[in-house]
Amino acid sequence: MTDPADRCGALVVFGASGDLAHKKIFPALYAMVARGELGEPVIGVALDDWTVDQLVARARDGIIATGTTIDEQVFARLAGLIRYVSGDYRQAATFDKLKAAMGSCTKPLFYLAIPPSMFGVVVDGLQQTQLTANARLMVEKPFGHDLDSAKELNAELLKAFPDAAIFRIDHYLGKEAIQNLLYFRFANSFLEPLWNRNHVESVQITMAENFGVQGRGKFYDEVGCIRDVIQNHLLNVVLLLAMEPPASGAADDLVDEKVQVLKSIRPLGETDILRGQFVGYQQEPGVRPGSTVETFAVVRCFVDTWRWQGVPFFIRAGKQLPVTATEVVVRFKPPPIALFDEDQSGDGNHIRFRISPEILIGLKARRKRPGEYMVGEAIELDAVDNDTSDEMTPYERLIGDAMNGRRALFTREDASELAWRVVGPVLDLPGAPLAYQPGEWGPAEAAEHLAPPHGWANPDA
Ligand code: BG6
Repeated sequence: MTDPADRCGALVVFGASGDLAHKKIFPALYAMVARGELGEPVIGVALDDWTVDQLVARARDGIIATGTTIDEQVFARLAGLIRYVSGDYRQAATFDKLKAAMGSCTKPLFYLAIPPSMFGVVVDGLQQTQLTANARLMVEKPFGHDLDSAKELNAELLKAFPDAAIFRIDHYLGKEAIQNLLYFRFANSFLEPLWNRNHVESVQITMAENFGVQGRGKFYDEVGCIRDVIQNHLLNVVLLLAMEPPASGAADDLVDEKVQVLKSIRPLGETDILRGQFVGYQQEPGVRPGSTVETFAVVRCFVDTWRWQGVPFFIRAGKQLPVTATEVVVRFKPPPIALFDEDQSGDGNHIRFRISPEILIGLKARRKRPGEYMVGEAIELDAVDNDTSDEMTPYERLIGDAMNGRRALFTREDASELAWRVVGPVLDLPGAPLAYQPGEWGPAEAAEHLAPPHGWANPDA
């Protein structure tokens, strides 16, 4: 439960006319209003010389674009909360107008839905207008470009806000299925004796997308797959799988355990990575000709703890793959002796977590095939969560948590920097990535040279 005194009195969105606000933030705010979880002013700030009506129209358009049928009463309530301040972030007058728009609110949440290069400018403006005391700051990824830039960015924000007031978003942590990973691990005792190097052979995480860079060529070409999804979303999944039970469900206890894992992950070496680029990427608008940025990567991590020593954690992610799906497969070691049939020594047992598009937990085991012989087959017992009608979107959950001061799903300063330490040695490697055709599971070498024992388990569509 949240103490009402922890609740912010206004949400201020910098970058209110931008893409993220349109696609994610306004739809989330609409859903929050519909649930009765938002009644505070929402103040949009952006350079565009718009009226508040234009911002409201843009919000409506974004909500419709998600496929939501608008309930006019709910929308009217949201529209009634929206204010707009137009101005240049470099000018003090913009922050004076913002201060006036905030009225008597003394505990705002400032959401920086703007490029990181502008974070410092906005934070300075807020500080000079004396708007930072008691305020919270929420920032979007990418959080830095490497360890040094993440440190610089942290230093910039920490000049004006204590770390406890900074909410670094990784929208993956707001997903229902990711929350379920944590719940499933620590709400079931049967897993504990198995969840370690004695029984687990490998862990594999696949995040596949069957589309390209979708008009984000310029952004993507500065980032690539490792920075876009591995350093943040997928490493966070590793942490949830590998962490020790926290002392309590409190935010800092959870994050402390994740940080322990991050400290124990060996920084990646050049033999722990294989990079790919889909054929046609270089023709995407915004992509530099001859670009060596990867659109696909496999990495192999090792978590050097007593629990996980020697167990490889494989992460595979890419654009233009055969399906759009994210899955985790925790594969168990085969029995020491194959008593019945050859197959028994292979990929026999696993727990599969399907993160998206649906939520599924599957338990794979072998059983005897009916008939005369002691020959088996693999079956998977699946628990599928079909009813997603009440599911919160990640942005809805995370904006709500930040408004209420709940920090468990946000990235702390030390964690953001440690994650860069892990991927640092394999960022910007020289040479071109291996080519793959759209619709393939990355370059063929990914299956041959950098794959879990007994191979990849490719998610179905
Ligand atoms: C974003 C990446 O953070 O996550 C995108 O920038 C990626 O490239 C997206 O497509 C995937 O998120 P989701 O929630 O759609 O699975």
